[in-house]
Amino acid sequence: MSCSSCHAGAGLEKDSSPLVGVTAIYPEYISRSDEMVTMEERINGCMVRSMNGEPFAEDDEDLDAMVAYLTYISEGIPVNADLEWRKINTMEDVPTPDVANGEELFQQSCIACHAQDGSGTGSNTGPALWGDGSFNDGAGLARMSNMAGYIQNNMPKGNEKSLSDQEAADLAAFVLSQDRPEFDKHDSDWPGGGRPSDAMTKERRDAVKDGTINWDEVLGNTKGISE
Ligand code: HEC
Ligand code: HEC
Repeated sequence: MSCSSCHAGAGLEKDSSPLVGVTAIYPEYISRSDEMVTMEERINGCMVRSMNGEPFAEDDEDLDAMVAYLTYISEGIPVNADLEWRKINTMEDVPTPDVANGEELFQQSCIACHAQDGSGTGSNTGPALWGDGSFNDGAGLARMSNMAGYIQNNMPKGNEKSLSDQEAADLAAFVLSQDRPEFDKHDSDWPGGGRPSDAMTKERRDAVKDGTINWDEVLGNTKGISE
């Protein structure tokens, strides 16, 4: 994975979780950690979850360089501006998914870039959708509402916005029921309450496999921050 695997075009692509303006917003209150989070801490949030990597040290030059870049692409945007392109990839009402149909759609529309086994063809041609090289289950995209919304807005690349809510939900459920790295600090998230219900954890992946998944429970409370 690279940052551009999800923030396409180095965070400039309008529909793909764009990062234009973020330095005008942070520090921001994040309910997942129930505290004010700095730009540096937010980047590290993506490092340890979405990138399934190690956090940058506070004085890491690469971290400074990333903040400098984000500041550059946010130039001219007023502090706390209401950015209409922010947090647009969350589907509000996710229909009950059909995983088998999701698999079929995946075979038709996704394997050319993401490979049959989901391991991808490269971080900028089609990053890993599951398996060791993908994001872990503490990432924002490991939630059904975010994955379905992201897929519908951005995929299949070249033919974006062609999938119905149902198709995007089916694909999200198929992708998120495959194995991926586990986040080891789920219990410390949402210390102030409000935990959304739709993270596809190992327990849920196993429940899809053995046919005991309760989608009503998964999709019961998808409110909360997107990542
Ligand atoms: C697997 C996908 C994925 C990868 C890889 C990823 N991110 Fe993110 N990132 C997200 C999602 C999803 C959000 C939440 C976006 C939203 O709220 O709409 C997010 C949010 C952010 C935000 C906060 C944006 C905001 O509006 O509050 C920053 C900053 C950020 N990412 C930086 C990075 C950086 C830097 C990297 C690479 C080190 C990275 N991300 C890698 C998925 C990813
Ligand atoms: C033509 C190539 C192509 C096709 C077809 C395609 N993708 Fe992608 N996908 C990409 C690229 C490239 C990225 C990296 C982000 C970007 O550039 O938009 C990406 C990123 C993603 C991501 C976020 C990063 C990650 O690894 O999780 C998901 C999820 C995703 N695609 C799902 C799908 C699904 C589901 C389909 C089929 C409906 C699909 N893609 C079809 C090229 C493709």
